[in-house]
Amino acid sequence: MTRTVYLNGEYLPETEAHVSIFDRGFVMGDGVYEVTSVLQGKLLDFDGHCLRLNRSLGELGMKNPLSREAWLEIHRKLVELNGIDEGMVYLQVTRGNPGDRDFAYPPEGTPQTVVLFTQAKPGLADNPQARQGIRVISIPDLRWARRDIKTVQLLYPSMAKMEAKHRGVDDAWFTEDGFVTEGTSNNTYIVKGGKIITRPLSQDILHGITRASLLRYAAEAQMQIEERPFTIAEAQAADEAFFTSASAFVMPVIEVDGVTLGSGRPGPVATRLRELYLEESLKSAI
Ligand code: PDD
Repeated sequence: MTRTVYLNGEYLPETEAHVSIFDRGFVMGDGVYEVTSVLQGKLLDFDGHCLRLNRSLGELGMKNPLSREAWLEIHRKLVELNGIDEGMVYLQVTRGNPGDRDFAYPPEGTPQTVVLFTQAKPGLADNPQARQGIRVISIPDLRWARRDIKTVQLLYPSMAKMEAKHRGVDDAWFTEDGFVTEGTSNNTYIVKGGKIITRPLSQDILHGITRASLLRYAAEAQMQIEERPFTIAEAQAADEAFFTSASAFVMPVIEVDGVTLGSGRPGPVATRLRELYLEESLKSAI
């Protein structure tokens, strides 16, 4: 099926949506993005993603080209036009096309490039991987130091993902100064003695929208949370581990650098948190 995508104010067949070879996103990785998941045809955590988009743009000195209402309308229209029941909406804003390659930013008023498209992912909620758990390896975190900005510069996470694949596992967790920062495209957690442990927010990690919602739901459910960095050795000795992202929700991790955690099956805390997240985020889905 040919998707209908959004490009700079127009809804077009994906085959007819074209961006300039001089676009700053293409030649400089000068753009930011968001991924919002769709369940039952509704957007999860939409306002969180909208706020983070605004923050990422602001940190890079870019304007937000559209209002919350306009973003919402485009998201909803693409979900409808493409018949998405379970899946994702991808959004990208770049600094636009200056008409040539130049390290300096284009002049004020250069139109930004705005792209949105959907991805259908049937089985996103009832994901077999979540019942099985996934295996990760650790990799040094060699990304830039502003990981709190959700930029389209994703080469190092892609390299890490490929390294994980070559080594026969599912994903990689980044480490820096002996501590886990986050996963290739997710925030990371361990569980010890019933306590959920996760790295605090800083410029070292992306401020996950799923993380924020999950920690709120967990606190409301009287679960214990400790925000502090943890090591790979601690993860290997933990009762459970898991990660969160808009595309995976809460995903149990059963192996870290070849060491099996607990029983080697998704643990009760991660399983409960996945249910909790799906239940609660659906209530506020729009
Ligand atoms: N990735 N950390 C990194 C480096 C990420 O790329 C992501 C999301 C997260 C989790 O953030 P959130 O809960 O807001 O999705 C953490 C998205 C899903 C992606 O790149 O596809």
